[in-house]
This record gives sequence, structure tokens and C-alpha cells, in this order.
Amino acid sequence: MSFKRTLVTSALPYANGPVHIGHLAGVYVPADIYVRYLRLKGEEVLFVGGSDEHGVPITIRAKKEGITSQDVVDRYHSLIKKSFEGFGISFDVYSRTTSKTHHQLASDFFRKLYEKGEFIEKTSEQYYDEEARQFLADRYITGECPHCHADGAYGDQCEKCGTSLSPLDLINPKSAISGSKPVLRETKHWYLPLDKHEGWLREWILENHKEWRSNVYGQCKSWLDLGLQPRAVSRDLDWGIPVPVEGAEGKVLYVWFDAPIGYISNTKELCDAQPEKFGNWETWWKDDETRLIHFIGKDNIVFHCIVFPSMLKADGSYILPDNVPSNEFLNLEGDKISTSRNWAVWLNEYLVDFPEKQDTLRYVLTANAPETKDNDFTWRDFQARNNSELVAIYGNFINRALVLTQKYFEGVVPELGELTDYDKETLAEFADVKTRLEQLLDNFKFRDAQKEAMNLARIGNKYLADTEPWKLAKTDMARTATILHIGLQIAANLAIAFEPFLPFSSQKLRTMLNLKSFNWANLGQIDLLTAGEKLGTPELLFEKIEDAIIEAQLQKLADTKKANEVAEYKPAAIKENTTIDEFDKNDIRVGTVLECSRVPKADKLLQFKIDDGMGGRTIVSGIAQSYPEPEKLVGMQVCFIANFPPRKLKGVESQGMILSAVDADGKLVLIQPSRTVKNGSQVG
Ligand code: MF3
Ligand code: ZN
Repeated sequence: MSFKRTLVTSALPYANGPVHIGHLAGVYVPADIYVRYLRLKGEEVLFVGGSDEHGVPITIRAKKEGITSQDVVDRYHSLIKKSFEGFGISFDVYSRTTSKTHHQLASDFFRKLYEKGEFIEKTSEQYYDEEARQFLADRYITGECPHCHADGAYGDQCEKCGTSLSPLDLINPKSAISGSKPVLRETKHWYLPLDKHEGWLREWILENHKEWRSNVYGQCKSWLDLGLQPRAVSRDLDWGIPVPVEGAEGKVLYVWFDAPIGYISNTKELCDAQPEKFGNWETWWKDDETRLIHFIGKDNIVFHCIVFPSMLKADGSYILPDNVPSNEFLNLEGDKISTSRNWAVWLNEYLVDFPEKQDTLRYVLTANAPETKDNDFTWRDFQARNNSELVAIYGNFINRALVLTQKYFEGVVPELGELTDYDKETLAEFADVKTRLEQLLDNFKFRDAQKEAMNLARIGNKYLADTEPWKLAKTDMARTATILHIGLQIAANLAIAFEPFLPFSSQKLRTMLNLKSFNWANLGQIDLLTAGEKLGTPELLFEKIEDAIIEAQLQKLADTKKANEVAEYKPAAIKENTTIDEFDKNDIRVGTVLECSRVPKADKLLQFKIDDGMGGRTIVSGIAQSYPEPEKLVGMQVCFIANFPPRKLKGVESQGMILSAVDADGKLVLIQPSRTVKNGSQVG
């Protein structure tokens, strides 16, 4: 089938927190690369984004902070929008699901399906908080996990062991609003009977879309093979779009029903505001010659491949997605990114810490894109890719080509002379870059595509290193001219090839080259610059990132980790019973520290000289890491077990064991009597 235009959507992020590198890597950078590529090709394309502003997490956050849900989404919508702008994510529209247009459209969408008889109504028992007088959404109920028995599991999931739950599974359920024990009460909801859609979904996905990424196809297949169930599309909640039918007071559309409709509403909002430029919204959503592509993360697959298509099909007037390129997850320094545990690199903070380095992050996230499996972001890798790829290859090549042209030809593109065999080889190598890039980009293989673009920079870099025009300039100006002419043509090609990936650098390079023709069709040609044209001023395209900068970021994460450990501290389980007689076998005494020093060649051990009231003794204790200044312990009273048999530790004989408590962060804290007692006093 052939298409006239492409509508690209990217998942609407929840406006209940800032966006982080996981969002960027999983959804927005790939979507932006794709859209920029199509635009550069001159295709008709629309890129739709926006914030997802309904749902329970937003109401929970508002309650916690003592503000309204509207306050929460206002704050994060503008923060998120700014972050995306900061990274050059080139949305045609970035709106929000609290907009008037959206409320109207989502409401109409529901009513049409309702009137067509596309829903079923069901009454079921759900938890109700009698004190707060409201039904409790799954997230509003906490209790003990039936699997791992952790406390504080939510009604939809236990975050400790990851199991999906239903509120009725929880042991000792508690309302998160009032803390009271909820009761079961009947409530009516509307369900989308996905089971009725199973037949055509199977054929549409499993037969007709075998080309979808295997992670997407595989997830759909396992959902379909398990058999689909009706899904509730309404909730008892006071934040959202009211269910627009009679007898639905206090009920709103389920957030996953209204949010994807947001793609449509945001398109409508844009087209209605600028019809001359963007046309009629229905052309984008209802014309068979429009190709619809959803960029999402893997937790969104079922909603975009099964639920939303069923809604569109139930309406009957919409097109269905042509592809749903979904990424897996990005981890951070080996751990799962988590908003609640603050384990993330927040985009708004990155933009402050690394102004002008948006392209470095874009580059690293694409180089490590979790396209086929979960991947890890590390600050060391970030630094290495910046310094040894962007700076040392791409940046170095551009800098050489421009600075040498400045030096030998006053910044004017020199003449191309006769080509040597080596020149021809080099040109042949990059002649098919365009085809290779297209093949990869058309198939959403952004990681390999960026590698291909980088390869072009490698070709250029190698060409200058091999031909050494700075040496030739002393003897053969004509040959120098030819080499730099070719170098500059490669540079111009790089500006185009990298535009989808590194738009800020491409813009800079374009200005430095004074490049006029700038479109995809030019790629692979060597007449993008004409001899005699004056170039702009050379500048560094990328800058090295020093160790200290990376260490500061690592320190920030280490601080977060520590804060989390303290916040999540749980006392260890009580050991099995013992008796007073058993306990009495330990002879615990008090003594005063006379000397304290490190044990040489042992980073954990301190050596104590203790006045035990009985002539003194030496004790070696493994607490050096908790007390980095051992001399400060002199004069302190401590408790120790006095009747352990002596043993040698790193060559020092230890006569006992000093008692300490283990704090939440793992630090050891010495136990002291609450006032001074005679050395040698017994503890018991
Ligand atoms: N807010 C959802 C999430 O972050 C994504 C919504 S995508 C849409 O997981 F299709 F519903 F808009
Ligand atoms: Zn659990």
C-alpha cells in the first residue's frame, strides 16, 4: 500500500513528575529522529505529543502535597514541555488531556460507542472507604502482598516483588485515604468487550503485521493466546472526564480510555487553529492514505496494539496504526529507573548541568537505545562516547577540515582537482550511505542508523589523517585544495546525515559551512559546496567532558542511594528464642579506650587498647570504615565481650569483641553506658 502522509504519535507522559532519560531513550528521541528524517525527505508528516493529565497517581500526589490535581498537572505539564523543547523534540503540537477540546472529543467518543452498543454494563463489588465516602481505585488500597508478604503493596501491583495484583488479593487491605479498613460495595461500570474483538485483532496483528518488532509482536501474541477479557473503561473517581451518560454520577472515563484519544484531540486542536498549514484533522485520522505510527515504551504495548485499536474499530471511522515501534527499558547504573525513589537523570536537571550538550545525551541514548532488550545508562559510558566518539572522531574531523581551509584558503572552498585512486575509494565508501541509512531508518533501527552516520565521520577523519594535507600544504597546494574540497563535502554530508540524530550540532555545522542546500536527497553527493564559496567561522562542534563533571553526577546518585536506604530501612527479623542462661554465658564488660589506631594493611580493622579495670587488654574490631578518625575515640567508654578466646587478626591478638549497633546506612555505632561507670563493670 502506498501512503501520502505519516502521523507520528509519542506516548503522552503522565504529568505527575518530571521526565527522565528513560522517557527520552524509550520514546521521544526515536520518534523525533524518525520525524526529522521524514521532514528532511520532504514528506508530509505530523508529530503529535502532549501530557496525560488524568489518572489516580496524580490525585494521590495532589493529596500528599495538599494541592489540587489541577495544580499538579499545571506544574508538570509546563516542566515536561520545556524539557522536550530543550532537547529539540520537534512536536507539531504538545497539548494536554485537560484541554477543552480533549474533554469534548473524548466524551463524544465514549457516547458514540455507548449509543452503538459497543460497551457492556456490569455491576461488581469493589472496595469502598466509609470514612472518606468514596470507592477506592486500585492504587488507593494498600496491604500485605500475598506473594512476598511485603507491607504496602498496592491494589494493582506489589512494587517489592513486581507481581500484578487485584485489590481483593491484598491481605489486611487499608484505604490510602483514611487508613480505615475498606468494605465491599456494589458499583456499576462500562466495559469494552475485548473478547468480541479478538478475531479481527488476531488476523490484523498476527497475520498482517508480522513485520512489527519481535518484542511487540510477541507481547501481542501472548495476550491474544491467553484470551481477551472485557475491560472496564470507567472508574469511581472525581478527577477525569465524567462518563457522559445518565446514572454515571461520580464516575469518570478510565485514564487509559481517554489518554490515547488525546492523540486525536491534540491533532484536532492544532488543525483547527491552523487549517491552512495542517489541513483537516480528520484527514490525519480517517484517510486510508495516512500512515499512523505510535512510539511507546514496552509497558504501553497492550494499550496501543489491542485496547486503542479496538476502540478505533468500535467507532468504525478511524484508521489503525501501521506500526508501533516500542522500546524496552533503560536502566540507570544497573538499577531500574524509578520516579518514586528518585533514581533517574531528570531532563530538567540535565539541561541545567549540561547546557548546550543536548546532542551528547541524544547521541548516547541512541547509541545505547533499548531497542531489542533492556539497556543500561552509565555516566562513564556517557563520558567515553562523548570524548572518544563525538569529540575525537566527528568533532575532530570537522575541526580539521574547517581550520585547515581557514588557514590555507582564507575560509573559501578550494577547487577540486584530479582525483587519486585513494580519493575515489573514499568517495565510493560513502556513496551508499544514503541507501543504508534509509533502510535502517525506515525499519526503526535508529541505533544502527546512527552508527552508519558515525561511520561517515570515521571515513572523513581517516581520509584527512591518511592524506595529511597539513604536510602537503608546504609542497603541493593543488593537492591540498583537492583534499580539503573532498573533506568539506563529507562535512556537508555529515550535517545532513546527523540532522535527525543531533539537530543542534547539525545546525551549528550548517552555519559553519554556510550550507544552503539541506535536504535528504542531497545525501551522498559531493557537490553540496561549490568552490569559491565562503565558509562561516569554525567553532568546536563538541567539547570534552572532564572526569570531575562525571564524578559529580555519580556522587549525586550515590547520595540518592543512601537516602533511599535510610528511608526504606526495615529492622532485621528477630532471631529465634534464647534463654537467660544462654545469654549469661557472655561476660560483657565496660572499659575505657586508652589508644586506638588503624591496623596496618587492613582497611576495616581498628586496634583498641582498653582499660578494663583488670590490667588492660587489646581488642581488634572491624569498624574502621565507620570511624575514619580513630584517635577521636580515646577516652570513650565502650562495652565488650570479655570471655571470647583470644584470636589473631592480621597479626594482632584480639582479646574480646566490642559491641556496636548497625545503622540503616550500614554504619557501625559503638554502644556506650549512658553515664560513666567503673571500668570492668559487668553488663547484663
Ligand atoms: N501516560 C502513559 C504512560 O506514561 C502513556 C499514555 S499513552 C496514551 O505510561 F496513549 F495513552 F496517550
Ligand atoms: Zn510482593
